[in-house]
Amino acid sequence: MSNIVVLGTQWGDEGKGKIVDVLTPAFDIVARYQGGHNAGHTVYIGGKKIVLHAIPSGILHPGTLCVIGNGVVLDPRAFLDELLALRQVTAVDETRIAISGHAHLILPYHRVAERLSEEALGERRIGTTCRGIGPAYVDKAARRGIRVCDLLDPAELKEKIEANTAEKNVLFRALGADPLDAAAIVEEYRAYAASIKGYIRDVSALLESQMRQGKSVLFEGAQGTLLDMDHGTYPFVTSSNSTAGGACTGLGVGPTRIDAVLGVTKTYTTRVGAGPFPTELHDETGLLLGRQGDEFGATTGRPRRCGWFDAVAVAYANRVNGVDKLILTKPDVLDVLDEIPVCTDYFYKGSRLDVFPAEPPILEKVEPRFQTMRGWHTPLRLARVWTDLPSAFLDYLKLIEDLTGAEVAAVSTGVERSDTLFRDDRLAGLVDLDKVRAAMAAE
Ligand code: IMP
Repeated sequence: MSNIVVLGTQWGDEGKGKIVDVLTPAFDIVARYQGGHNAGHTVYIGGKKIVLHAIPSGILHPGTLCVIGNGVVLDPRAFLDELLALRQVTAVDETRIAISGHAHLILPYHRVAERLSEEALGERRIGTTCRGIGPAYVDKAARRGIRVCDLLDPAELKEKIEANTAEKNVLFRALGADPLDAAAIVEEYRAYAASIKGYIRDVSALLESQMRQGKSVLFEGAQGTLLDMDHGTYPFVTSSNSTAGGACTGLGVGPTRIDAVLGVTKTYTTRVGAGPFPTELHDETGLLLGRQGDEFGATTGRPRRCGWFDAVAVAYANRVNGVDKLILTKPDVLDVLDEIPVCTDYFYKGSRLDVFPAEPPILEKVEPRFQTMRGWHTPLRLARVWTDLPSAFLDYLKLIEDLTGAEVAAVSTGVERSDTLFRDDRLAGLVDLDKVRAAMAAE
């Protein structure tokens, strides 16, 4: 069976959590390759809302191996709290969790450094999730990061925490913030070692041996393409590679092992945090989309900025990820609209741009052009098979496909697993839909 990457084609919050959850029965392994607990994957099971941050959504399926790669930054406290919360709503088989020893740890000083950095930026702040993600990746690149494997060596851990805390405290004091107590951090992280060490594995070797045995992997992206550190709207991005290439570097898996990339795309666009957003709506319709779509950050609770579907941005995402098929989410949010504009082109200084300009100074000034489609005025959630979908909606899909260059292979029309319709022909050979449907039927 195939190994596929599932990632977001916009600014995150495309509904990847639900899609990964639905597709998981067709895979043996779900592997996270970047980001940390800045991600928030919301899934609803039997009407129960479950938000996952660090743990792959595959954990909700018995038998699935959940892998956290070296490209992830791990806050051990958040991870253990999440496990605890999860155990209260569902059974968790902890032998099914593997964490790379090479994943970097988030430490308390990362959160303080991030708060100070955002405060210092003032109006120019990124609007981060303040989970310490960026500063943890800074330390990784600066070669002073502390990794999960360091938890196994108490003396090494102590030395590294003390050195890092001393260095950070110089900065904190200079900025008028309270210094942190290294001894307390050492004690805290030594305690985490006992709880985490059972999960530590050589993830690259584990995945290779599993794939050799014919097991299939779903590589789960966090955030979205436009938040990618290299290909997103830098500097208004997260600090990792959320694009498809991140799956290789973030897990120690070669590109030849990946068979396809599925791009999850929302039928409109949202963004949390600061940065350019050409199709953003600043009017009542934007608020309506936010209300109908329950657009509040799963991690921070912040209201998401809302706007129309941006085909220029998604076409760009399809290119940088090599997206094979799109999975469209939340079209039901638009059920009530008479007319639905789709951004087809950008103009800048009077000329049409051929490519998406990821540079904020340009992106802030582009003039989006729209094509308006008629609304479908039908509750899409009532559709149970593809052929139930109304023609006005299929016209809308066709336009998106034509503009972005990728076919839509599935549509999610509601929060429940069963609110998912597939084009079987377009997923043939990539996802075993019989397994997906059997799992839905067994609920
Ligand atoms: P950071 O990842 O916390 O450093 O935040 C950097 C930017 O990415 C901010 O605009 C955040 O709002 C955004 N961001 C981070 N994680 C997510 C996510 O899971 N969904 C949507 N936006 C995110």
